[in-house]
Amino acid sequence: MNNGLEDVIAAETRLSDVDGERGRLVIRGVSLDDLVPGGTYESVATLLLDGLMEDPVDATTLRPLLASARIDVYSYVTQLDETLLALPPVDAMRAMIARLADGQDLDTALHLMAAPAVFLPAILRLQAGQRPVAPDAALSQSADILRMTTDQMPSAEQMAALDAYLVTISDHGLNASTFASRVVASTQAGLTSSVLAAIGALKGPLHGGAPGPVLDMLDAIETGGDAQAWLTVALDRGDRLMGFGHRIYRVRDPRADALKNALAPLVRADQVNRERIALAGAVERAALALLKARKPDRPLDVNVEFYTALLLEALGFPRQAFTGVFAIGRTIGWIAHAREQALNGRLIRPRSIYTGPLPKVA
Ligand code: ACO
Repeated sequence: MNNGLEDVIAAETRLSDVDGERGRLVIRGVSLDDLVPGGTYESVATLLLDGLMEDPVDATTLRPLLASARIDVYSYVTQLDETLLALPPVDAMRAMIARLADGQDLDTALHLMAAPAVFLPAILRLQAGQRPVAPDAALSQSADILRMTTDQMPSAEQMAALDAYLVTISDHGLNASTFASRVVASTQAGLTSSVLAAIGALKGPLHGGAPGPVLDMLDAIETGGDAQAWLTVALDRGDRLMGFGHRIYRVRDPRADALKNALAPLVRADQVNRERIALAGAVERAALALLKARKPDRPLDVNVEFYTALLLEALGFPRQAFTGVFAIGRTIGWIAHAREQALNGRLIRPRSIYTGPLPKVA
């Protein structure tokens, strides 16, 4: 029976490939290991959009166009009222993005890339009782995000670390939020509709909501003082250790090492709490040993969320903002997939398998 599931399983893409056996992520033919060093938000965005927009962009033109889109969307910040600010940051951000026009063109794409980068810092500052900081068109996307969040010019190490994060999480195969984006795009709705659907899928705790609990675990272990003992009690209770295991990767998640490497310059420059990093290292070692002993047949290694938590904390983002920062990075992947689907794909319309009763035949 053709139940339409082959549409889902066989979704063809030239954008990214996740190889769970080898622990390899390829984005547009480039391995993540080669993409991250020296990579920027603008460089990975150019790569992902290549050939998908009617108006072509290159790395040189994208940066000023994006900066100008940040300035445009900042004019919406005055619409952040008390009702929106009472919401979790990712929900307030989604509500603001819903105000953008719903096109398929480069201008819509640029505004969608700029919107979470501008709205999230403004929401965080307003929720903390601070004045929002306007974008600076002379800066890169990463530098401006950090500046709009903290009202201070970031160091070169901090800018590079955020760029590494945004490149690392820009795209990751047909995950739940990317699939949501493609389903909406397959109806020929606009890019804003795709991104809104994707944010709805991302915010769930099984997808983009895990790094906060990693920090909760580190806090608890810091208080107790003994990683091995705390982890043993947690596993005896049947808990899952946050930041470990993955549905697809059977080896180490390559994004974890990309982010671990991105933390190293911050440690060398003394721009991060070294005790926190040392504690995380001890927790990782103890967790891997315990998981190996308890689940010898199920390879469980560290995943992207463990080092996401450490990196975003080191960059000064509060933990309630982590899902929103993930959305800032993943929006370019959602846009690229939506464009690829709209240009080449058919309507995604799987059939359900009906298991209910049938009417009685007279
Ligand atoms: N800690 C302890 N045990 C684990 C963990 C973990 N983190 N992950 C899996 N296991 C165990 C399970 O209890 C199960 O044991 P059992 O067979 O005795 O019941 C076995 O390993 C297999 O588990 P599955 O449920 O088949 O693993 P699945 O691939 O479905 O789950 C998941 C993947 C959800 C990521 C899981 O590893 C997990 O819950 N990890 C912790 C939460 C986390 O870090 N999430 C972020 C993932 S990265 C991302 O999504 C971007």
